[in-house]
Amino acid sequence: MQDWQHSVIYQIYPKSFHSHAGNATGDLLGIVDKLDYLKWLGVDYLWITPFLRSPQRDNGYDISDYYAIDPSYGTMADCDLLISEAAKRGIKLMLDIVVNHTSIEHAWFQQARSSLDNPYRDFYIWRDQPNNWESKFGGSAWEYEAQTGQYFLHLFDHTQADLNWDNPKVRAEVFKMMRFWRDKGVGGFRLDVINLISKPADFPEDNTDGRRFYTDGPNVHQYLQEMHREVFAGHDLINVGEMSSTRLEHCVRYSRPESKELSMTFNFHHLKVDYPNLQKWVRADFDFQQLKRIFSDWQLGMQAGGGWNALFWCNHDQPRVVSRFGDDGEYRVASAKMLATALHFLQGTPFVYQGEELGMTNPGFDRIEQYRDVETLNIYRLKRDAGESEVGNMAAIMQKSRDNGRTPMQWNTDANAGFSRGEPWIGIPVNAAQINVQSQLDDPESVLHYYRALIAMRRVEPLILEGVYRPLLAEHAQVWAYLREGQGERLLVLNNFYGTPCQIELPREVIGETTEQRLLISNYPDCPARTTQVSLRPYESFVLHLTD
Ligand code: GLC
Repeated sequence: MQDWQHSVIYQIYPKSFHSHAGNATGDLLGIVDKLDYLKWLGVDYLWITPFLRSPQRDNGYDISDYYAIDPSYGTMADCDLLISEAAKRGIKLMLDIVVNHTSIEHAWFQQARSSLDNPYRDFYIWRDQPNNWESKFGGSAWEYEAQTGQYFLHLFDHTQADLNWDNPKVRAEVFKMMRFWRDKGVGGFRLDVINLISKPADFPEDNTDGRRFYTDGPNVHQYLQEMHREVFAGHDLINVGEMSSTRLEHCVRYSRPESKELSMTFNFHHLKVDYPNLQKWVRADFDFQQLKRIFSDWQLGMQAGGGWNALFWCNHDQPRVVSRFGDDGEYRVASAKMLATALHFLQGTPFVYQGEELGMTNPGFDRIEQYRDVETLNIYRLKRDAGESEVGNMAAIMQKSRDNGRTPMQWNTDANAGFSRGEPWIGIPVNAAQINVQSQLDDPESVLHYYRALIAMRRVEPLILEGVYRPLLAEHAQVWAYLREGQGERLLVLNNFYGTPCQIELPREVIGETTEQRLLISNYPDCPARTTQVSLRPYESFVLHLTD
């Protein structure tokens, strides 16, 4: 194991983290203000979503200058201060690199669009006629440019033009930019939708949305190996790739050390278990069996292939997990802790998204005016224009919108939950008065203290890193049980995913009469003696260290 594999990474969505200046949106100095809290929590890296210059149409994932801080977030001096203050606390920054596309306001695109023979024309992807590929934010993936009479490709919003990675000049510019940030002292990179960068030259189409042609595309591994040589090699950096609709075999290749590509990969299959027939914008319960099966397949597959998983429930694109797979009412605390346990004992590097460590919930916004996200607003309009009822449209949005995870961090009971002295850019959930950092710091039974304990535990319990994953009771309707096995010892991780009690029977070899048991963590205060017959209370979860 390498040193970084002990790490836990905390994700900050700076727009909603903390405003030092008292503005509608957060800023970099607002993060500096909270570094002592993050050190107390025990995290090693901060992944901060993009704060570079951007028209903010997709909240910074539409970059118009890779070398400048967006003025809403502060200055380059603030960024330098953040890097150095974090370093003083043993924390490193991970920069979010968005290079599948740029904003159409980027100077390269402004050049490219100006004429057919402009030297930057080939920085982007142009065609005389569009094919039938669809944008991930709805509608066609092609936008017509009247001035030059061609269409350009945008897999996301029409203001996010896809870069042409087959052009060596594009790659050289990207690597130069990454070296600039590396040399400033960042500790690694999170690479936005990086498995979409290589499109097949003939732009094939069929009766699907086209993703199967450009996902994990023809030259993606080669380009990542080039990035490794040009940026990472010989430097102490950890790099996580965001892999959209990817496949296991590719994630093994991206993340196994011999490939010299990335340290680890995010995939989203486990977060599509509430997308019936892969339809996101439909309100639906989650499929628990599928959730377990997907996690198990990825644990076993990545382990067999020598790859490394980035583990996560939440990020800025996802609803809050306690509202999604737990219970954000009566069992909020127990279910938030259960979900944390289920994830943190898997093999891989856990990511904690701001507010997850408090058990923050979806805000329950029921009017479209309360939403800000470009994807949500695009989908709302498309569905409304296609005749969907307001009630049906909003029911799906309330469950699925990315804004569920983007409401301001809940710090205390001051105005605006302590996020800012000014009026925030998006609403604050009414439960902020009860769910906030200040109250949980004072409460040793809080979700926050539980996360802190989990984070500390992986440094002292080697099986969390190295143990071989083995699923148990795979067909059980409400329990996800698994082992992490070592020589003559193992961790037993039991999680009841529902608000009803249940009984399980463990195989005899797991927990026999002579087995020594040590309780590592549990979300109920008392933990009766355990045998092969176990009863679990609502959302109960605990981990035993067992020695033969
Ligand atoms: C990633 C980001 C998301 C963004 C998209 C386009 O999925 O996480 O927020 O909208 O890429 O850059």
